[in-house]
Amino acid sequence: MEISSKKLLNELFSNGISRSLLSLADLIRKQKVGNYVYFRGLIEISNVCQKNCYYCGLRKDNKNVKRYTLTEDEVVELALLIYKKGIKSLALQSGEMENEAFFEKLLRIIRKIKEKTKKIDIQNGEEPKGAGITGSFGELEREHYEELFKAGVHRYLLRIETSKRELYEKLHPSDHSFEKRLKCLKWLKEIGYQVGTGVIIGIPGQTYEDLVNDLLFFKDFDIDMIGMGPYIEHRDTPIFCWYKDLITSNGFYKKVFELSIKMIAFARILLEDVNIVASTALQSVPGCENALELGIKAGANVVMPVFTPYSERKNYRIYEGKKNLTPEEMSQRIKKAGYEPVWDKWGDPLHFFKRNKMSNS
Ligand code: 5AD
Ligand code: SF4
Repeated sequence: MEISSKKLLNELFSNGISRSLLSLADLIRKQKVGNYVYFRGLIEISNVCQKNCYYCGLRKDNKNVKRYTLTEDEVVELALLIYKKGIKSLALQSGEMENEAFFEKLLRIIRKIKEKTKKIDIQNGEEPKGAGITGSFGELEREHYEELFKAGVHRYLLRIETSKRELYEKLHPSDHSFEKRLKCLKWLKEIGYQVGTGVIIGIPGQTYEDLVNDLLFFKDFDIDMIGMGPYIEHRDTPIFCWYKDLITSNGFYKKVFELSIKMIAFARILLEDVNIVASTALQSVPGCENALELGIKAGANVVMPVFTPYSERKNYRIYEGKKNLTPEEMSQRIKKAGYEPVWDKWGDPLHFFKRNKMSNS
């Protein structure tokens, strides 16, 4: 749907979330992608990261993190557990590590997951499709993206974080490159991935106009999936130290939460048939209990329940106070809100098929 930038800006500026915005987003959602909410079982393979993003608790220079990397067997077993439970799409995530040994391990993990989940399909008398796999391992070289794709990863999430170069440069040290990030997104698309991107909403230094431009960036880039979420503090990061007074001021998170919901609604209205995640960060905003329901009402159609082993969950701390609802809790709440949780379908973004002029069989 066409909607003017000025109108978007006015909505973002206004206080509260207007009912008409939510109703329009919900109408478009129902018309374009139905009332389904697709599940991805999320495994956080490793919290080791070579990057130093100023906002993130996993940044390399944060020495207060207990680093972990799951073993190959641990990841494959978890993936099979998720698949046998009936969730047919997985999301594998880690900090960024351009490292041959880690990369080779990733490839082995993915090949094994595909092979074993296909076997399960055959045993169940189903078409051997295996698990749908979303990868999120940061910026890699093109050949690495190609190899992951061949191994069976068919969706990739790489957030642009902000589409405004100047802000990107303020949020990252000088050895991080906005160009490389854009290049990676381009490569992913060329290779044939279903491509997801997103931004951090409400991070200090960002303006409403930046957010409108982020939405236009998603549209221009013709992306298939959006994974965006609110900024949430992490005390061991430069951003928190620099903007502590703002972040801890009254009403900060209320505003960030409202902006996040509005951004989902705008994305649904503007981009119509993409997949949009109700992110874990959205569900973790301090003081917001009904975030999952509101995110879905605003147009989100994907959730990613965490399956990382309990012993390591506390160490994958990108921000403080991460909430982990179980898939059962999510399903129950989704149904109660009037939507249909879907575990057993890949739930690919319809937009991908449209842009490739293929039929979604
Ligand atoms: N608050 C919210 N999201 C964050 N991310 C990193 N740090 C934070 C934070 N403090 C997001 C980034 C990154 C993803 C893995 O987590 O957008 O892409
Ligand atoms: Fe690493 Fe991602 Fe955190 Fe940046 S946001 S420090 S790349 S885990």
